[in-house]
This record gives sequence, C-alpha cells and structure tokens, in this order.
Amino acid sequence: MTNRNFTPFPVLKTQRLILRQLISSDDKAIFALRSDGNVNKYLDRKPGKSIDDARNFIRTINKNIERNDSIYWAITLKGTDKLIGTICLFDFSNDNLKVEIGYELLPDFQGKGIMQEAASKVIDFGIQHIGINSIEAYTHSKNQSSIRLLEKLNFKRHNAGDDNFMIFKLTHRG
Ligand SMILES: CC(C)(COP(=O)(O)OP(=O)(O)OC[C@H]1O[C@@H](n2cnc3c(N)ncnc32)[C@H](O)[C@@H]1OP(=O)(O)O)[C@@H](O)C(=O)NCCC(=O)NCCS
Repeated sequence: MTNRNFTPFPVLKTQRLILRQLISSDDKAIFALRSDGNVNKYLDRKPGKSIDDARNFIRTINKNIERNDSIYWAITLKGTDKLIGTICLFDFSNDNLKVEIGYELLPDFQGKGIMQEAASKVIDFGIQHIGINSIEAYTHSKNQSSIRLLEKLNFKRHNAGDDNFMIFKLTHRG
C-alpha cells in the first residue's frame, strides 16, 4: 500500500535540523540558492535571475505539493527558521513505488554532514510513509560531493546513457 498524500505537510525533524514547507519569506534564501554559481555548477538548470523568479518558484512548488505531485522541504537548523538548503522527492512513478531525489545546500553549510542527515530522514520518510521502494538520483559525473553523499547513503551506481550524468539507485526490499 502506498500513501502519496502531503496534507498536512509532513514536517521532519533530525538531531540538528527541521525540514519544513517553503514559505513566502524564504524568497531571498531561495534566490541566493538558485543563483549561486557554486550550487549551480553541476545542475542542469538556468540560474535564478530575480527575487520574482524565487517567489514564482515557491508558489509553483507549494501548488505541486497541494496536488501531491511532489514533496519539497526547506532545510533549517533547529533554533533558527532560516532556509539553508532544500531537498525534494519528485517524478513519482504511477504506482508510487519509484521516485527521484534532489538536494542542494548553500555553500556556507556544506561540509558539515547536514545533507547526509536530511537525506537519511527523507529516504526513511519515503519508504515508511509513502511506501516507495526505489529512489533514483541523477548527478553530474564530476559532482564529487554529491557522489560521495549518495555512496554514504548506500545508493548504487547504474549505467547512464550520457557521459556527463550518472544514475544512482537505492532499492529497498522490505
Ligand atoms: C551535494 C551537496 C548537497 C553535498 O553537501 P555536503 O555538505 O558535502 O554533504 P554531506 O551532508 O554528506 O556532508 C559531507 C561532508 O561533511 C563532513 N562532515 C563534517 N561534519 C560531519 C558530521 N557531523 N557528519 C557527517 N559528515 C560531516 C564530511 O567529512 C564531508 O566532508 P567532505 O565532503 O570534505 O568529505 C552539496 O555539495 C551541494 O549543495 N551541491 C550543490 C547542489 C548539487 O550539486 N546538488 C546535487 C544535485 S544531483
């Protein structure tokens, strides 16, 4: 049985973090994240150009959550409500058993194990609460930080059709 229903929004907590829904006052942090050259280096997307782009992005993300199309968390440190990164599950298969994961952190918060902590919780939520049994990640072959993270999370590399991108998969046999 799968359960792809994101209302009420599933706030997740870990030792250091609270993963919550995006709110309109995250616009500056979302703009910072989506326009940062370091963050965008290996991502296949156009850099955010304005605070309006960030506001539209937040609205679109929250509509997708309302429709249960995808789920997207703001990563915050406990005790501050400030967005330091994001993590999402998107592109669910029709049977809800398969999904893709995406994640990014502002440069000041990288290298502290924060994404490992957030992603472990999100994967656990996906398996336990949604009922997925396979998670995929597409990552640029030079994106060493992302590859190291996926390997720590026990994702296994699969062949990709493209030289620049690698596919990693985590399969849960429950
Ligand atoms: C991919 C990304 C999220 C990885 O961030 P990260 O901070 O390196 O990931 P982790 O949370 O796994 O942290 C690991 C690092 O923290 C260090 N660390 C420090 N304290 C730690 C702790 N308490 N626990 C675990 N690791 C800790 C580890 O040694 C490791 O450092 P290293 O990379 O020098 O080996 C980040 O590089 C990023 O946002 N990149 C831009 C966006 C992007 O490319 N996203 C991927 C899309 S596919």
